[in-house]
Amino acid sequence: MSAIDEIKQRTDIVEVIGQYVTLKKAGRNLTALCPFHSEKTPSFFVFPERQSWHCFGACGTGGDVFSFIMKKEGMDFGEALRVLAQRAGVTLPSRVEKDSGKEAREELYRANEAAALYYHNLLLNSPGAEKARGYVVKRGFNPTTVADFQLGFSLDSWEALKQYLKEKGQTEENMLTAGLLVKAEDGRTHDRFRGKLMFPIRDIRGRVTGFGSRVLDDSLPKYVNSPQTPVFDKSGTLYGLDRAAAGIRKQDRAIIMEGYMDVITAHQNGVANAVASMGTAITETQVNTLKKLTKNLVMALDADAAGEEAMLRTVGYENILNAEIRVVIMPEGKDPDDVIREDVKNWQGLVNIAVPIVDYTFDKTLARLDLTTARDKSAAVDRLLPTVAAITDPIRQAHYLQKLAGLIKVGIPTLEAALARMRPAAARRITPLPRREVITPARRPLFSSPREEYALTLLLRYPELKKLPEGPLPEFFESTENREIFNAWQAVKDVPALKERLDPSLREHLDAIINKSLPAGRNDIEPRYADCVMELRKKYLKGLAARKGESGETADLAQLEEDVKISTQLREIEARKSKRTGARR
Ligand code: UTP
Ligand code: MN
Repeated sequence: MSAIDEIKQRTDIVEVIGQYVTLKKAGRNLTALCPFHSEKTPSFFVFPERQSWHCFGACGTGGDVFSFIMKKEGMDFGEALRVLAQRAGVTLPSRVEKDSGKEAREELYRANEAAALYYHNLLLNSPGAEKARGYVVKRGFNPTTVADFQLGFSLDSWEALKQYLKEKGQTEENMLTAGLLVKAEDGRTHDRFRGKLMFPIRDIRGRVTGFGSRVLDDSLPKYVNSPQTPVFDKSGTLYGLDRAAAGIRKQDRAIIMEGYMDVITAHQNGVANAVASMGTAITETQVNTLKKLTKNLVMALDADAAGEEAMLRTVGYENILNAEIRVVIMPEGKDPDDVIREDVKNWQGLVNIAVPIVDYTFDKTLARLDLTTARDKSAAVDRLLPTVAAITDPIRQAHYLQKLAGLIKVGIPTLEAALARMRPAAARRITPLPRREVITPARRPLFSSPREEYALTLLLRYPELKKLPEGPLPEFFESTENREIFNAWQAVKDVPALKERLDPSLREHLDAIINKSLPAGRNDIEPRYADCVMELRKKYLKGLAARKGESGETADLAQLEEDVKISTQLREIEARKSKRTGARR
């Protein structure tokens, strides 16, 4: 059995999706408000027998547990595979994964390292960097800081870095993968960073994984960062961690700020335990990284709406709620950079009175409500009880339950009852479960899907088939493996690129598909392919209609067909759009 099959065997889609939405029974199936678009009446269904889901509303999409996690968490297939494998207690074969790509990643670090040095020297010495040097002084950074953080400058030129690194023996391909270059629509490449103050981003081991960059004036966007690359994942990165790790251990406390500037100013002023979350809501990966250094985390985000919102979203992470996280409340309109530069003592004072994140959430939520009215009391419970429910430590949970009861002046038993009612849906995030030996019944049989594989074999052998209108939707593929191969194939030009892109766990299956024999000759490939796609489409629609009927909805086949058509068109438009904007950036 493949790892994917094993994960499916050990995973109940109802449990997984139930961690994100509140599912209600609907006959043999379950229903909820769709987590992917906003709606008032539920059109999102989960089908336990088939271990699949579908939204009959505006999205019109569906799939299995893999596609759900990918969509909901914004993960690629490999990431979803890892999360679900961990949850199911399935060990993924790591042999392929480990060495393949290691050398390639080293090459990316080398390109980044060379680029960082190049930018740094330009900032120090280039006549073209006069303005940048002035800006650095204006921001109050001294030469030691510039050297410590290896700040740099990228010339206002399309090819300066490219030419320089080429002379150093770097290939364009590698620079492109590292995110240092951008490919334009005409296929030519140019430097991504131009005329910017450069911040090399290092991992805890000090390797340069990517770059942040800032404009020197008020133009927008203010910051341009490296894209996602095999060595740079923005959501998992903490800027300054390489320099802060020692300070964090020593002080047994980490301070999470929002921006590069905040962190640099902090370190220059002796706040040696500061890192930045790259401007987004802090993620579980980041918390987990920091937890290895200290249990005491302090978040210091701007007091503006965005900062607050980022923090409130953070509360959704069970792991974050269970770490001791405090929040520094910044003075209106100021960020740590401003406060520390004014007077580092004020900053220390603010850190000392930081409040636990759950209390902060209470304050923020209740500030907007009038707790003398019944309606707002009920709103307070609606908004805060999920947070309380997600706290797994019973003592801490009881503490906040009492706090809430006291604030809205209702008895604790009332809240306890409400808490009990919501419990199954409360654990918001995917948390690893102990390896289960019992396999729940009602699983989809693991048949292979000859028709899907035939379509893929044709598609891979004759890439020009991709251009035909009315191609299959990813959902037509019931097999997770086939669907992922189909998806990956849309994004690449040839089979070697596909192999490179595809998660290693799918390589064997891909080889089987590639090596499948086809009747000789190029003749009538197109009609054969079209036929096959039509059969897949029919099967998909029939299945959909049956499930819709089961769910007590009217299953109008013509209507479903229409939905699928619209869905296809929308996705084609999206794909074209993202191709265009992707090329320009
Ligand atoms: P801020 O706008 O708060 O930046 O964004 P800052 O560090 O205070 O910068 P200054 O003081 O105006 O120079 C905080 C962080 O959000 C990310 C960056 O990581 C930045 O450091 N960000 C912000 C972006 O990635 N892109 C943007 O356009 C803006
Ligand atoms: Mn700032």
